[in-house]
Amino acid sequence: MDWQKINMNYFNDITELSPNEINFLLELSERLELNPEPNALKGKVLGLLFLNPSLRTMTSFQSAMIRLGGGSFVVSPDMSIHGLETKDDVIMDGKSAEHIKEAIPVISSYSDAIGIRSFANMNNMNDDIEDKEYKKLTKLVDKPYINMESAIRHPCQNLADWKTLNDFDVPKQNGKFVLSWAYHPRALPLAVPASTLNMAVLRGMHVTILRPDEFQLPEAIMNKARLIASDTGAKIEETSDMNEAMFDANILYAKSWISPSHYENLEEETEIRSKYKNWCISDEWFESAEKSCRFMHCLPIRRGVVADHSVLDSARSIVIPEAKNRLLVQMAILHTLLK
Ligand code: CP
Repeated sequence: MDWQKINMNYFNDITELSPNEINFLLELSERLELNPEPNALKGKVLGLLFLNPSLRTMTSFQSAMIRLGGGSFVVSPDMSIHGLETKDDVIMDGKSAEHIKEAIPVISSYSDAIGIRSFANMNNMNDDIEDKEYKKLTKLVDKPYINMESAIRHPCQNLADWKTLNDFDVPKQNGKFVLSWAYHPRALPLAVPASTLNMAVLRGMHVTILRPDEFQLPEAIMNKARLIASDTGAKIEETSDMNEAMFDANILYAKSWISPSHYENLEEETEIRSKYKNWCISDEWFESAEKSCRFMHCLPIRRGVVADHSVLDSARSIVIPEAKNRLLVQMAILHTLLK
């Protein structure tokens, strides 16, 4: 590997990276694991703004900065801050006393880079697919920024998942990757399914999206994936038939998402979703898959709801190494942005 640094001012979307940049980050993550650099980011500070909850993203970024010799701080609305307003043009005579328009530049002024998490508000699907809110937030930043999950993107997860597929020798071209919807009691955003689809297609895999008919991914998301596939040679199929999808599968990647056709009517969405409580991943799902078929999920996962205990506790589940890879790829991202 030519360790000439790649030029990266922000990390927002895996589809914005060239194959060379993806390889560079993956190889750097391996190098940093094998040959730690505890002083690489000495004196550097990462500001972490979480507008939504997190376990993995928050702790892995903090751990990554410590391991590279720098430091970090976390800000979230649940902490001792003055109530954070994110809407434009509001009269702030309610609970919130701090506007994001001041908060982000202030956090940025204390940091060398800033990570921002802001989930979809799920009011308007087109706005969420275009990541409108997130773009507004990043315009307030004058430092390198890292997308820690927005309405439609989760690039750190995507890079960690790519590394996990490599680590477990899942074939790149033509490896069969099943992205399956699973039941969840709440309607969840499209960020993980959309960006995971892009990741698998960028990797050149044979991707099957397994979902009930009402959970077909929006055309805008599918069109983007098809465009990438035309470059990488990936195949994309969709089905609601579990046996058809799982035949010869190398990976079952589970995730729940909102019904796109009911995006703006959550009451109706809940009714439709509740018909599919049996979409809980069980051992039977793997019967026609490759013997070595692995189970992936970005976590957190509701045991007994999204997947059975027996699946999560089996050797085919790689959710823990997958989560550990968040730390390793984020070390590579920080090293590239800040060193
Ligand atoms: N996978 C993931 O982003 O986990 P957290 O929501 O816990 O950060």
